Amino acid sequence: MDNLLISLLRKFEPETAHDISIKLLKFAPILFNKFRHELLEQEIVGLKFQNPVGMAAGYDKNAEVFESLFKIGFGFVECGTVTPLPQYGNPKPRVFRYIEESALINSLGFNNKGINSFLNGVQKRTDFDSPLGINIGPNKDTKNFIDDYTILINKAHDFADYITVNISSPNTENLRKLQDKTALEELISNLVASLKDKKVQKPIFIKINPDEESNNYSDIINLISKYSIAGLIISNTTIQREQNLSPQIRKQDGGLSGKPLLKKSNEILELVFRETQGSIILIGVGGISSGGEAYQKIKLGASLIQLYSAFTFQGPNLINKINKELVQLAKKDGFNSISEAVGSGL
Ligand SMILES: Cc1cc2nc3c(=O)[nH]c(=O)nc-3n(C[C@H](O)[C@H](O)[C@H](O)COP(=O)(O)O)c2cc1C
Repeated sequence: MDNLLISLLRKFEPETAHDISIKLLKFAPILFNKFRHELLEQEIVGLKFQNPVGMAAGYDKNAEVFESLFKIGFGFVECGTVTPLPQYGNPKPRVFRYIEESALINSLGFNNKGINSFLNGVQKRTDFDSPLGINIGPNKDTKNFIDDYTILINKAHDFADYITVNISSPNTENLRKLQDKTALEELISNLVASLKDKKVQKPIFIKINPDEESNNYSDIINLISKYSIAGLIISNTTIQREQNLSPQIRKQDGGLSGKPLLKKSNEILELVFRETQGSIILIGVGGISSGGEAYQKIKLGASLIQLYSAFTFQGPNLINKINKELVQLAKKDGFNSISEAVGSGL
């Protein structure tokens, strides 16, 4: 069924195909049985995960289909990026598909319906068995990025199982500058202070880009520890283009995801795990299209993994397939729980 669906969707330009897939997903779950295995279950930052495979941010931007995504097999879903006000994003076309390379390039620029509409979607939630993350980012024309994040984190806090502060999209001008030490400390300290009166403190993750100098990651790690942030999501899309990529990919601006991102995001994941040794939680994302690649990230230090691009290339059956492969791979290595595999490759 996936093959037919994928070839049909490929007849449309990528953004239209995405919109159609969201509509289909509203009905699809009855066709799926979620694969479950106790070896895949973990409790992390106080949340129970049935499996470690999550839908990455950007797919369900407006919190419309996260329950369908739980049903087709995902262990958790990160919705967003949501901004305070609705926003059109950058001019179209702004998503490009490269089938041969299993890659996407996007320059969407946080197109979304804004936090109020988003929270309407979240409040329709009936399934509380799988964690829901809310990924937040500023409006393009805002006067002050930190004000936007503060508004969002306070509005989203009570409805999210965890919150991701996205400072790594390449498609909002100057956003990535927040990854610099001084700017990041100002952001994090403000966010943490703004939540101090909340009775329950929800875990916060910071989503980072894979394109920084290695010493910048050390600065980030120090801040994460200083402000008791739960962990890092590694990584967002890359703006770098390796020499071996096709001329089409190399000349197209935007954030590159899918297969060409695997090596780069793995390098940063490994670097960060070597420095943190399990003291913070790492979520590995970038280029995963199989159980083997998901397992590779887990062995490099990811407690959880996420994917997006491969879902658009392979369809919904991919998620159960990855989880089944993870069980086989972990058993083969003699692990009784997937958590025993975290960082075991280093
Ligand atoms: C079309 C598209 C839109 C995305 N939008 C967002 C977004 O809004 N927020 C975000 O944090 N990441 C966004 N991402 C990045 C993904 O969450 C993920 O980090 C990246 O695609 C790498 O994973 P993948 O190789 O499995 O796709 C987007 C990716 C794609 C392909």
